[in-house]
Amino acid sequence: MKIILLGAPGSGKGTQAFKISEEYGLPHISTGDMFRENINNKTELGVIAKGYIDAGQLCPDEVTFQMVKERISRKDCEKGFLLDGFPRTIAQAEALASVCKIDLALNIDIPLEKLFKRLTGRRNCRSCGESFHVDYIGDTKICPHCGGELYIRDDDNEKTVASRLQVYTEKTAALIGYYEKAKVLKTVNGDLPIEEVFEEIKRVINGL
Ligand code: AP5
Repeated sequence: MKIILLGAPGSGKGTQAFKISEEYGLPHISTGDMFRENINNKTELGVIAKGYIDAGQLCPDEVTFQMVKERISRKDCEKGFLLDGFPRTIAQAEALASVCKIDLALNIDIPLEKLFKRLTGRRNCRSCGESFHVDYIGDTKICPHCGGELYIRDDDNEKTVASRLQVYTEKTAALIGYYEKAKVLKTVNGDLPIEEVFEEIKRVINGL
C-alpha cells in the first residue's frame, strides 16, 4: 500500500506515521527527517536545505523529488511506503504521479490556530525520532519511548513556525483538492487525542 500523509505543520503527521508504520509494516519516509539527516551530516544537499528550512520555506521541488524518487526505488518500498511531508506542492504531486500510483492520501485536519502551540512545545528524540509535547511529558530531556536525548528543532521557534504555516496555506493546502479529484483522499479529524486519531486512521486504512 502506498500512502501519503497530508496536513499542516504540527497536524500530527510524524506522530501518526510512527504508529502507522509499526502497525502496517510500511517504511516511514519523512522528507523533513531526510533533510535534517543531511544537515547533520553536512552533505551538499544538507547545505542547500538548511537555508530553506531555517527560513520556514520549502526546499526546491526538483531536489526534493530526486531524493524521494531514489528512496522509494529501494527494495524495502517494493510493497508500499508511507510518505510524510511529501508531496508539498502540486509540482511535487505531479512528479510523484509520473513514477507511481498512490492508494491513499490521508489528510490530518486541524484548525491552523491550534498548531502554533503544538509546534513551539514540541520535543523530538535524537535516537528514535519520535516527537512529544511538553503538555504531556513536562520538561524532561529523556525520551519516554527509548531513553534517548530530547531536543528542540531549530525550525520550531515562533518566527519560523509562522512562515511554515503561511507556506502551507499558500502552497500545500491545494493538494487536498488535487487528491480529492484523483479520488484517493480521506480526511481524519486531527484535533483529537493521539490514540483517537490513530483509531480513525486505522478504520480508514482497514476499510480500503
Ligand atoms: P517537516 O519535518 O516535514 O515538518 P512539517 O511538515 O512542518 O511537519 P512537522 O514535523 O513540523 O509536524 P507534524 O505534522 O509531523 O507534527 P508532529 O507529529 O511532530 O519539514 C520541515 C522542513 O523541511 C519544511 O519546512 C521544509 O523546509 C522542508 N521540507 C520537508 N519536506 C519538504 C518537501 N516535500 N518539499 C520541500 N521542502 C520540504 O506533532 C507536532 C506536535 O504536536 C508534537 O509535539 C506532538 O507530540 C503533538 N501532537 C501530535 N498529535 C497530537 C494530538 N492529536 N493531540 C495533541 N498533540 C499532538
